[in-house]
Amino acid sequence: MKTAIVYYSMSGNTAQTAEKIAAELGADLIRIDPVKEYPSKGIRKFIWGGKSAVMGDTPALQPYRFDGSYDRIIFGTPIWAGNFAPPIRTFIKENRDALEEKSISAFVCCAGGDTAKAFEKLRQYLEVNVLEAQLELVDPKDKPSPENDEKLKAFCKKLK
Ligand SMILES: Cc1cc2nc3c(=O)[nH]c(=O)nc-3n(C[C@H](O)[C@H](O)[C@H](O)COP(=O)(O)O)c2cc1C
Repeated sequence: MKTAIVYYSMSGNTAQTAEKIAAELGADLIRIDPVKEYPSKGIRKFIWGGKSAVMGDTPALQPYRFDGSYDRIIFGTPIWAGNFAPPIRTFIKENRDALEEKSISAFVCCAGGDTAKAFEKLRQYLEVNVLEAQLELVDPKDKPSPENDEKLKAFCKKLK
């Protein structure tokens, strides 16, 4: 099954997870980044990123390569203010046609907050009935743990 992992990562946790899943599943990695980067330090990062997520912004993205040839798309995003990150919103908006009829899964990285609402918001924005597989990890790069490793393994097993 031809798989793409489409992800955004500000501080590397989602990126590292995307790379691990790609290696396990033999998937292509598609990293997306906004043209105007969010502040990534201090309190400004929470204010700007959080506001952008709450407002449902769709920031312009740097060029990326994605086509309709994939059977399965796995989205990877940090949780921002209980939501998925805005660059993912832009990607979905720009690729609705190419995402139709695909198997869709998602993983999120968070600092420990509730992720159920973010998965639900993502599912609704994607306009799909179900996400094939879901994974949530607590800061897996910054705080590696056996629990995160086990969850990652189970997610990949489900998609193999
Ligand atoms: C703007 C902003 C908002 C955040 N909001 C939440 C949140 O609501 N719940 C939570 O558990 N973590 C929150 N976090 C923490 C990140 O989701 C978490 O550290 C994640 O692992 C970062 O992924 P990354 O390294 O790929 O950017 C927030 C981080 C930022 C920068």
